[in-house]
Amino acid sequence: MTQIAFDPLDPAQREDPFPVLELARREQPVFHAPQFDLWVVTRHDDVLAVLKDHGSFSSAGALKSSPEPFPPEVKEALAEGWPTMPYIIEVDPPLHDRIRGLVTKAFTPRRIAELEPRVQAIAEELVAGFERDGRIDAIERFAWPLPLRVLGELLGVPREDLPRLHEWGLDWLLLQQPGPVERRVEHARGLVRMQRYFVEALEEREQRPTDDLMGALMAARSEADEPLTIPEVAGLPLDLMVAGHVTVTRAIGSALWTLFRLPELREQLLDAEAAPAAIEELLRLESPAQGLFRRTTREVEVGGVTLPAGARVMVHFGSANRDACTFHDPDAFEPGRDDLSRHVAFGKGIHFCIGAPLARLELGLALPLLLRRLPGLRPAPDAVPEREDVFFARGFRRLEVEWDV
Ligand code: HEM
Repeated sequence: MTQIAFDPLDPAQREDPFPVLELARREQPVFHAPQFDLWVVTRHDDVLAVLKDHGSFSSAGALKSSPEPFPPEVKEALAEGWPTMPYIIEVDPPLHDRIRGLVTKAFTPRRIAELEPRVQAIAEELVAGFERDGRIDAIERFAWPLPLRVLGELLGVPREDLPRLHEWGLDWLLLQQPGPVERRVEHARGLVRMQRYFVEALEEREQRPTDDLMGALMAARSEADEPLTIPEVAGLPLDLMVAGHVTVTRAIGSALWTLFRLPELREQLLDAEAAPAAIEELLRLESPAQGLFRRTTREVEVGGVTLPAGARVMVHFGSANRDACTFHDPDAFEPGRDDLSRHVAFGKGIHFCIGAPLARLELGLALPLLLRRLPGLRPAPDAVPEREDVFFARGFRRLEVEWDV
């Protein structure tokens, strides 16, 4: 049997994970990666089957790429906060329905539409801050701060608090992957600080209601028959804050990198009619969330392989999005493709991305703005882009660009 040398943290695979995944789809579409104790599901049909069967594939630990339980030191640090705080992305029904109900009520299409002028203004302000410099790290100066500030305004977080929320958000993600215990204890402490921050912010809103999304979540909570406790609600702004900015950061970085490779993309992004499909195609090809995790609740078959109860599964969105059985010429950038709507970059089923409309809005405003305001935008010739090292993510940590001033 072909051994699939899957290692998302290996530098070569961080750069280009797709050949290994293509081999897997052909030879062993559901394979076991022993070093991570993960069953990786790579074909589009099988990925959909897993996402739809949330009874057999639980989302508990959906972000956890490390196979071992947390070490005692990490558990101790987490016990200082709320170790069972539910995060929407990691809970199953019926609790998932209750939390998702709250966010659907509060995070309405109208609220997103109202954000549009703010997204535009924040993006313009950021560009005005570096436009004359001729060179920046696009991640640090634009791709991080834009979605972070948008999320801050949406939730009602003061701007000066954003840098620490950004750091704590990274702590939450890094806590989930293998690493030295001392470092993981630090990440656990960061997560606890973030939990406290949101519990306190919601408690304040209980006393003094606000118009922001956290205020709307508290209002929706008070209307429920069986209201969630404040720490139960606090997992939601925490999750939105993290899921809502790191993903868009990655999408912006990957879009720029693709743009440097494919000059025709520039024209497409600048054409209001063509841009939405170009952005969707970028998301399909790059899949900022390459995959997330599930745990089997019973013995279950997927893609002809029987998984035991309790098996850890990685649902590989990035691989599904390049499956030749679903997408014609899957590695080609073709925004006109008629199979584009089948991409799973935002997932599928009950955990489908809540922020997809906001992500599309941000990318649709940010990318053309960069192209218009930074003529001749290109990679800085003497700089080496650095990929991010989060197990399930695809994006850049550093991407230096320059333009004509
Ligand atoms: C390009 C940007 C984005 C990508 C690629 C992306 C991707 C995803 C994916 C693949 C899932 C499904 C997770 C699963 O099945 O386990 C998801 C869920 C989620 N996303 Fe996004 N996302 C993006 C932007 C956003 C934004 C802007 C927000 C918030 C404003 C957000 C909030 C969430 C939340 C809260 C969930 C969990 C939903 C649930 O479990 O019911 N995402 N996202």
